[in-house]
Amino acid sequence: MVKLPHIQERVRLLPYTTMKVGGSADYFLVVKDTESVKEACDWAANAGVSVFVLGEGSNLVVSEGPIHRLVLKMEIMGFAKLHETSTHVTWRVGAGEHWDGVVERSVKLGLTGIEAMSMIPGTMGAAPVQNAGAYGQEIADTMVELEAYDLATQQFVTLKRSECDFGYRNSTFKTDNAGRYVITHVTIKLSKVKPKRPTYESLKRWLDEHKIDDPSVEQIREGVMAVRARILPDPSVVPNSGSFFKSPIVSAAKLAEIEKKFDRVPSYRYGNEYKIAAGWIVEQCGFKGVERFGLKVWDNHALVITNPNSATYNDLRKLVEEIVTAAKEKFGLELEPEPLFLS
Ligand code: EPU
Repeated sequence: MVKLPHIQERVRLLPYTTMKVGGSADYFLVVKDTESVKEACDWAANAGVSVFVLGEGSNLVVSEGPIHRLVLKMEIMGFAKLHETSTHVTWRVGAGEHWDGVVERSVKLGLTGIEAMSMIPGTMGAAPVQNAGAYGQEIADTMVELEAYDLATQQFVTLKRSECDFGYRNSTFKTDNAGRYVITHVTIKLSKVKPKRPTYESLKRWLDEHKIDDPSVEQIREGVMAVRARILPDPSVVPNSGSFFKSPIVSAAKLAEIEKKFDRVPSYRYGNEYKIAAGWIVEQCGFKGVERFGLKVWDNHALVITNPNSATYNDLRKLVEEIVTAAKEKFGLELEPEPLFLS
């Protein structure tokens, strides 16, 4: 099989992830335009190699490998204004754009829709995959459609929001159609209307402390950044991949059962069910601030597993297993990791 000229072989993925674990990929290519996405995917199809798309590796855990895949490092950039009315602006954004840069740009223009998602690590193209969200906003609320290369049909497609099957930290790109699409552009619709006052507890408290009743988008961004900086470790300083577990979704009956045994269970309504804060569960299981196998559960937020001592993927697996087992024993709840596992 003739290899495309720019494809590199046996590339270590560890430096490309914020968790700093993982082995090497058989093939690796940086893509900066849609033509090279197609060319690379067609090459992989002919070679019988599966494709994996890498953004900034901030929600990704890579196994020791070798990873028998072609890893495409997504670097398609660019912003284009598609449409503007008196109330909204619609942008088409390259999948490789740094997510917080997109937020910053929109906030500078006074636009509403993504300001509460300030400082979430990662790229524009990764946001729809996990339906990234924070403080009451998620990308599913603003996304209109996305463009992607469909590896199954070998052509570019446009998927509307309704076709993405968005749920809490979930989408078709993690479930039925995992691995099928290479997202190249995302179209988002932002509003010129003043933002609503956030209802999320920690953010509300910050606004109260600063005596802000009617916050602007800039003030919401400032508040989110302050709250996040206080509780979450900066991945460029201490390796981590953000929230490590999804908050389990339970019935009212299950929540009531837990509330009988524990005081002040942090829960949020989610449709007809309830989300129980996974960080609280991990803390109740005694892991907050704990160091195991070279990893450390963050002191200020038990939902974040940090890797300050260059622990390996297998070390991480051991710690995750301990936490999952403890949560199962103590609460009868199944904790599910939030990051994507690549092997
Ligand atoms: N809590 C504890 N102990 C802890 C951590 C949290 O008791 O160690 C309690 C808090 O006191 C609070 C509740 O749990 O009552 C919720 O905590 P927090 O407000 O920090 O939010 P979260 O539910 O833990 C989620 C997202 C975050 C997002 C925040 C804000 C998930 C898995 N995580 O965290 O997303 O920033 O809400 O909206 O949904 C990420 O995905 O990487 C991420 C950081």
